[in-house]
Amino acid sequence: PLSPEAALVDSLITTIPNFPEPGIDFRDLTPVFADGPALAALARGLVAPFEGRFDHIGGLEARGFLIAGAASVVSGAGVLSVRKAGKLPRAVLSQEYALEYGTAALEVHIGQLPPESRVLIVDDVLATGGTALAAANLIERAGWRVAGIAVALELGGLGGRARLEGRGIETFSLLTY
Ligand code: PRP
Repeated sequence: PLSPEAALVDSLITTIPNFPEPGIDFRDLTPVFADGPALAALARGLVAPFEGRFDHIGGLEARGFLIAGAASVVSGAGVLSVRKAGKLPRAVLSQEYALEYGTAALEVHIGQLPPESRVLIVDDVLATGGTALAAANLIERAGWRVAGIAVALELGGLGGRARLEGRGIETFSLLTY
């Protein structure tokens, strides 16, 4: 049985077959973001398991930013911007991660948060876990701590949770497909 928050979010997630390529079922969360009460419920549902155990929300560009902003308002914690490479204007730390074809990188501003700050990473979807793991590595290299990872939707069977928990990172998903 889903929590009321999870049920509301679940009712708005739309599946688009064969996007962005044949055979892929794309899970579209834009209807969740477009619904004020659903976005607020999502944010509350993601921060609740970690209440009192984080100082900042780590938002992952781009879709994670939408959730991070909402999670910031409901929790009172500010957002650490975890950006794709080349976007941040000051000195950065960079962490590469593997994509299906090639690599990408996430970056944070060096010294953005006080040392030992506890960062709760939030994102829309957990698939292979490569993005979340790169963010976690980056946060630790920057001198902060990972309070955990909270996502709206976990795609089971792709190994993401096992990779993160294998690194000792508490992983919470509101929904699992
Ligand atoms: C998507 C999604 C997650 C990530 C999950 O982001 O928003 O961040 O992939 O996949 P993984 O667990 O296999 O790493 P994407 O890189 O498409 O970026 P976007 O949010 O900018 O669209």
